[in-house]
Amino acid sequence: MTVPASTHSFAPRSVPRDSPETLEPFEICHPDTDSGIANPDAGDNLAWDQARFPVTSPEEMRGFEFAVEESNEELRSQLVARFQNDAWLPLFQQALDSDEDAETLITERTIFEAIGAYERSQEFSESPWAAYVQGDDDAIDKAAKRDALLFFGAVSEGGSDCVQCHSGDAFTDELFAVMAFPQAGRGKGDGDAGDEDFDRFRETGDAEDLYAFRVPTLLNVAATGPWGHAGMFATLEQVVRHHLNPADSIDDYFANLNSNLALLEYNGYAIQTENAETNTRKALVQLQDNREREVGNVRPVDVDLSDDQIDDLITFLETLTDPRVDDPEALSPWIASDANGDPDPDGLRLEAIGL
Ligand code: HEC
Repeated sequence: MTVPASTHSFAPRSVPRDSPETLEPFEICHPDTDSGIANPDAGDNLAWDQARFPVTSPEEMRGFEFAVEESNEELRSQLVARFQNDAWLPLFQQALDSDEDAETLITERTIFEAIGAYERSQEFSESPWAAYVQGDDDAIDKAAKRDALLFFGAVSEGGSDCVQCHSGDAFTDELFAVMAFPQAGRGKGDGDAGDEDFDRFRETGDAEDLYAFRVPTLLNVAATGPWGHAGMFATLEQVVRHHLNPADSIDDYFANLNSNLALLEYNGYAIQTENAETNTRKALVQLQDNREREVGNVRPVDVDLSDDQIDDLITFLETLTDPRVDDPEALSPWIASDANGDPDPDGLRLEAIGL
């Protein structure tokens, strides 16, 4: 699904990071529990709780005009009030199997619970790799089994040790690592020029966490581009090459910046800072510094693979993707439409385009 970013009226104030996908019920199991005290208003699961936040972020859904002076809580209650009417009530009554009134059934809790439940219902976890792991020996061919060894094998044995970080059923150890992926967007307000994104360092203040981003899941990864925390890679080949040799990848990325941006289809909005290359190189220095001092979570060495082996790694990544995520018919139950006979209680439903 392609959304033309350049037609969004707030494009210059775009979201600083690439949106994570919601295509399988995997959830980070280790949120920052040590970063604060549990919020009594939190939902029962992460998807439910996370749903409370996009509406409060100006760049995401809050916008720059509605309830600008109000607290997040007040903003949420004003939003909830918009749903407390006779158009939405029957839908809540049906979902919650109750005949109570709108004030009782349509609340902050039930709205965000519903969004979380919708996300958690997106079970696209029938990848060829999952079938193979569950015992279907023919789910992937012989070549793909060889490709898997490249992913899992140690560098000393000719592999590329991707599993150092992308481990477990969801292919992530859920830790943070400094990878120096390019960033050309607006950043999170960090650094002297206010256009950097220090990510993990923002929470811990530990020098080795500068530019450390959470290791993402690789489930369905073939369908979730553009890749990286700032969405700067348009192809899986670029992502793999970057992992193998970040310095070469960054040289190459900025030497061919215009064609890379054109590939991303966000041309004109992808670059929102003149310091894109400088900032990316600062992250590279951090990566190299961590390597030398053997601190933080980084790949200890660059890895040399042939072009054929890089293709093989990409083929392996593709086996982690459930083919249904590219099939409009399989996706359609999750996309509200008239064709599905879905209701549009207040006439404000967004219509999916480009499917
Ligand atoms: C030291 C830990 C580490 C190792 C080892 C590692 N990765 Fe990653 N990987 C990451 C981190 C962290 C990110 C996210 C970086 C960012 O967005 O800035 C990432 C991102 C990715 C992505 C993009 C996912 C997305 O949704 O955007 C892919 C694909 C990927 N890695 C594949 C691999 C492959 C293939 C290997 C082995 C060649 C590998 N990784 C080895 C830490 C690691």
